[in-house]
Amino acid sequence: MPNYTLKIRRYDPESDDPPYWQRYDLELAPERSVLDAIVKLKEEVDGTIGFRHSCRGAICGSCGVKINGKPCLACNNQVGDCADDSGEITVEPQGNMPVIKDLIVDMDSVHWKKMKRVTPWLLPEGDPPEREYIVPIESMLDITQTVACIQCGSCVSDCLAMEVDPEFIGPAALAKAYRFVGDPRDAAHRERLQDLADDPHGIFDCTHCFMCVDACPKDVAPMDQIMRLRRKAIKEFDITDPNHGRSHEEAFVEVIEKKGTLDESKIMQDSFAPGIKEKLNPKNILPLIRTLPTMFRGIKSGKMRSLPKLIPGVHHKLEDQQAIKRIYKHAEAHGEELNLYIVGEGNEGTEDEGTSAESAEEPEVVKSK
Ligand code: FES
Repeated sequence: MPNYTLKIRRYDPESDDPPYWQRYDLELAPERSVLDAIVKLKEEVDGTIGFRHSCRGAICGSCGVKINGKPCLACNNQVGDCADDSGEITVEPQGNMPVIKDLIVDMDSVHWKKMKRVTPWLLPEGDPPEREYIVPIESMLDITQTVACIQCGSCVSDCLAMEVDPEFIGPAALAKAYRFVGDPRDAAHRERLQDLADDPHGIFDCTHCFMCVDACPKDVAPMDQIMRLRRKAIKEFDITDPNHGRSHEEAFVEVIEKKGTLDESKIMQDSFAPGIKEKLNPKNILPLIRTLPTMFRGIKSGKMRSLPKLIPGVHHKLEDQQAIKRIYKHAEAHGEELNLYIVGEGNEGTEDEGTSAESAEEPEVVKSK
């Protein structure tokens, strides 16, 4: 049986010792899971290792950890796949949540608190029907992807926005919010969306880093659900927000469409005051002045690198403007997004996807909203 070394991050906040790595050698068949390895160590070598698990079948979500730096389920990853050439596997607790002991994190203070924030239950209107609610199949298919969440916290663990802003409602809770915003039995869609748009840590706080999409072991794609919330808020309910999230998104789309490059200065100004008329509006002068420290930080960090880039409109254009037009045309033709669980990954993407909107085939499956 092959030999492996598990390098486990140990920490007990109740002791005075700082976190440290402890190495354990063990023999195990390569197809056994990392969770099996930890259980074996706990039972046979060191009973003090703290970790959580239950189903051992990637269903309960309780064994979430980071293996080799990536959030995942310990029961869903085989030691043979995780070990490097020397047979070593590193296991550490999830990020963005305080450690209770070793591999156990405090999900109550972060994950579950945020989950409660989005009112995770249906808010129907009127008297309940005499018999069951009949929900259109398309609507249920639309929310199937979010229903697949097993609350393991992997997406929370790797969320970069939450790392910068711990108050961000976060990928798991916002994906849960879409589960109700997409459900026709719920009667508070507008109120929910307005609430999540008004919150400075809500739907417009996501930075599109895709980490949650990579981390999710159930393909919930939390970031996609956040984008669906945004689209519903803007397109269906014409919701604006006091944090300029909507205008920032619109400014971004417009600037890239015109230039293909990121004119940071223009995006910033248009986010607060789109168009000349709004820029001359006295009510927008103060918000524009307030952007100056952000601009200076951009210069200092190297994001805005040269003087011309600070003058709105002077930023250079990409040479191939036709390519940008093609991309936008393609995006518009695919405005009605397809739910991964309906089309399946294999059906997505043709050889010329991204270059020819006309050639894209119509899917024969139900479209999500
Ligand atoms: Fe239940 Fe891993 S033990 S998901």
